Amino acid sequence: MSKYTSFAVIGAGIIGGPIVNALLSNGASVVVITRPGSSTASKLPTGAKSAVVDLKSASALAAAFREHNIEVVVSTIGHPGLPDQPILADAAKLAGVKLFVPSEFGYSTLGQTEGELGLKDKFAKYLVEIGLPSLRIFVGGFIDFLPWLTEIDSGKFRILGKGDSKASFTAAEDIAGFTAHVLTTLPPSQLNNAIFRIEGTQKTLREVAALYGDAFPVEQVDTFPDEFRTWLHRFIESGQGTTGGSSNDLWEGHHWKGITEALKITPESLSTIRSSYP
Ligand SMILES: NC(=O)c1ccc[n+]([C@@H]2O[C@H](COP(=O)([O-])OP(=O)(O)OC[C@H]3O[C@@H](n4cnc5c(N)ncnc54)[C@H](OP(=O)(O)O)[C@@H]3O)[C@@H](O)[C@H]2O)c1
Repeated sequence: MSKYTSFAVIGAGIIGGPIVNALLSNGASVVVITRPGSSTASKLPTGAKSAVVDLKSASALAAAFREHNIEVVVSTIGHPGLPDQPILADAAKLAGVKLFVPSEFGYSTLGQTEGELGLKDKFAKYLVEIGLPSLRIFVGGFIDFLPWLTEIDSGKFRILGKGDSKASFTAAEDIAGFTAHVLTTLPPSQLNNAIFRIEGTQKTLREVAALYGDAFPVEQVDTFPDEFRTWLHRFIESGQGTTGGSSNDLWEGHHWKGITEALKITPESLSTIRSSYP
């Protein structure tokens, strides 16, 4: 079976932007779909086409997919857009799109019922209901978000709970590279209705803290002002944060970045990193 070559990426933000670049590097045809008024369209990489479309209009989106002969829709929309993903799926179905990659790119959402993860699993079930094949990619936490997750801008490495449950962490660059690699090299039969699980590394938050030496002393907290951060720490603490990395092998020969490499933590850089915070 021939491979997919024509992709639409919706919402080229933190992870969508690198996915667009990686798809283009792999020789794919890529259309970036942005909302009216978005600033993304002015920052697109060379080679990407763009279409400005109202994401609340399935017919307008379907017309854009048809115009560009889109085979695969990759949704990388951010949190506020997740409740409207069914509209993107309806549009893809209308236009005869062959594969939908939903905005997952986190911990496994299988069987989750609440919050962002519950919303993502509900959407995956919707894709099944309308008969649109999907590819879900679970990556654990983005390594790039670890400083945010642990509030190191406070001068401390903050952990809610004991911090001794293992979780998967993957660099955004590897998530984007893997997504583009599998989408452009595997046959549809291996992609349609598949779930891939990758990880750059598996560590407890205490092990991550140790990578910073004594630059950011661990501080145990009961809660964070940010509800989502509190929820993420509890989720990791519950032991559900690992993906297992069973799909890493699909990117044969790839070197997966660990935390020190992705965050450029070296003995020399530590004092610079430390001095950039209070
Ligand atoms: N595992 C992790 O640690 C981790 C970390 C970050 C993200 N993620 C996941 O990765 C996926 C993508 O997240 P991201 O951080 O890359 O997204 P993002 O950069 O916050 O947003 C991506 C794009 O979504 C588009 N969008 C569409 N509808 C929107 C709406 N109603 N409100 C705001 N933006 C909207 C915007 O594009 P336009 O303005 O061009 O239309 C925006 O640039 C999500 O599923 C998220 O949960 C996981």
